Amino acid sequence: MDDFTALNRTIERVVGIKTSNYKEDYIRRRVLSRMRISGNDSFAAYHRYLISEKGEKDLLRNALTINVTEFLRDPEVFSIVRQQVLPEILERKTRVRIWCAGCATGEEAYTYAMLARDLSFTHEIDCTIYATDIDRKVLEKAREGVYDARALKNLKEREIQKHFIHRDDGKYEAKPELKAMVRFSYHDLMSNIPAARFLDIVSCRNVTIYFNEAQKADLVRMIHDALRTDGYYVMGKTEYLGRDVEGLFAPFDPIQKVYTKK
Ligand SMILES: C[S@@+](CC[C@H](N)C(=O)[O-])C[C@H]1O[C@@H](n2cnc3c(N)ncnc32)[C@H](O)[C@@H]1O
Repeated sequence: MDDFTALNRTIERVVGIKTSNYKEDYIRRRVLSRMRISGNDSFAAYHRYLISEKGEKDLLRNALTINVTEFLRDPEVFSIVRQQVLPEILERKTRVRIWCAGCATGEEAYTYAMLARDLSFTHEIDCTIYATDIDRKVLEKAREGVYDARALKNLKEREIQKHFIHRDDGKYEAKPELKAMVRFSYHDLMSNIPAARFLDIVSCRNVTIYFNEAQKADLVRMIHDALRTDGYYVMGKTEYLGRDVEGLFAPFDPIQKVYTKK
């Protein structure tokens, strides 16, 4: 077994990331970046370092997951958005404003656009999704809205046909009507200024691994500020409201991490 393959086996075991789910080149680039930063000049040397150096496992995990995202990530959460949150908003009004904060390459934002479009066949709905990220490179990709088949694995064939154009190069491009609903822009969630206000939903998921406790609390306060009264806050499955700010929200579905503004 070569050194890179052996390292991949260890990453799967100790970092808990299934490297075989990713393109090999992606893993290689992220590992090479950690090798440069940590001063290791071969896969074998980095392999030993990863096992012996306390803290490197977390640093590598963050480096590998920094922009990781997918369509319908955590399908149970989006079932709640589809079946309860959006219909409940539409009982009161037709205009829906959603902020997808830390949107990476756009899959989450387009997921909301798909849900809204599906509802447009039975409800009157005018939905805008503000999608922001601090990484300009991922925003470029998000605006293009072009994905390979692997990115669509959570979607059913009929959903793919409904919302994507299957291009000659084999890739899938979000249809113009989906793209028209999403506005991508640069925004730093640590700036404490919301990218939009009077929002019905703020979806800020799987972003806070990079934040300390004080920054997390500031983020929750900013999201509270950006929402309308009774607006919804959708968090990542492993994220939580800190003790200082939990009084700002009421649980809507605490298992799936959906809250409403008090
Ligand atoms: C793991 S991805 C999550 C993508 C998506 N929300 C999801 O749950 O699938 C985290 C994203 O947060 C972005 N991010 C990290 N720090 C940020 C900050 N201070 N402001 C805005 N975006 C940030 C990263 O650039 C990355 O694209």
